[in-house]
Amino acid sequence: MALSKKSEIFERVRQLVTEPEWALAWPLIEEIHELKTQQNAVILAHNYQHPLIFHGVSDLRGDSLSLARQAAVSDAEVIVLCGVHFMAETAKLLNPERTVLLPDHDAGCSLADAITADDIAMLRRQYPDVPVVTYVNTSAAVKAASDVCCTSSNAVAVVEAMGSDQVIFVPDRHLAKFVTQNTDVEILTWDGGCIVHEEFRTADIDALRADYPDIDVIAHPECTGDVQDSADAVGSTSQLIDWIAENRPEKVAMITECTMSDNVASRFPETRFIQPCSLCPYMRLITLEGVRDSLRELSGAIEIDDDIIGDARRAVTRMLEFSP
Ligand code: 13P
Ligand code: SF4
Repeated sequence: MALSKKSEIFERVRQLVTEPEWALAWPLIEEIHELKTQQNAVILAHNYQHPLIFHGVSDLRGDSLSLARQAAVSDAEVIVLCGVHFMAETAKLLNPERTVLLPDHDAGCSLADAITADDIAMLRRQYPDVPVVTYVNTSAAVKAASDVCCTSSNAVAVVEAMGSDQVIFVPDRHLAKFVTQNTDVEILTWDGGCIVHEEFRTADIDALRADYPDIDVIAHPECTGDVQDSADAVGSTSQLIDWIAENRPEKVAMITECTMSDNVASRFPETRFIQPCSLCPYMRLITLEGVRDSLRELSGAIEIDDDIIGDARRAVTRMLEFSP
């Protein structure tokens, strides 16, 4: 690989990895770039991925919605999803003819574990005729049982597009609270939560504001309602990045999975990132070695049962149609 590419990647990660880490990572990064060409592959990385993956090997990056959109228009034969299982399933739903690889199938999500297709069927019996909007952080089977999906960046727009006074919104109760505060539609929700965002407390934010009186605090809507209320802005991972780009704060705390601050800090050298840290254990399962092996062997392919793939795809494509 050209030396200029190596120094470009190194510039982005130099503050984030030690010299021995870089020395071990570089041969893997080079090998992954070669394998991508051989396999006609593209690598999509979520904003929470390790900097060596995010800056080192990915071609396209973003939040869940933008990864879904980018997957939908990809013409690569192989898509490697550096993220968690529901993101790879979403990419497969939108590209059923292509090979979609997830390097470690244990990369799940506490929200996806919180609800099943049977639970949706039970809710439908309990509330007949009320549309079901499902967070994209769910299995393909749950998506298939729903009317439409949403992500944290389009949840309010999708709920309002249902044209109903009441909407069942599952499984994240905190995102449901965010939606409730931003719409007149009555929201019936579920008891799911993200183990990473539920760690944050308002006391953390109070302490930050006491130490840094001029700090801006921006939070993901998977945080508890109290934390959302204490923040200056609330949005999806990419919306938080856009907020920084627009407002150029001197100091900011992003109340979300903390790898993201590391990934975006190099874009905003004039901003100081200060924050409590909570890591997603599922996202951490994706490693350079795992990406290399997956690409080399074409292992970790996502398969979705024929009896659900059509309905699950409909719920995701409907979301893309409703999104601004
Ligand atoms: P975003 O859609 O905001 O990237 O969120 C995905 C996620 O899993 C956050 O925990
Ligand atoms: Fe799931 Fe939370 Fe990890 Fe996002 S941060 S993938 S919602 S467990």
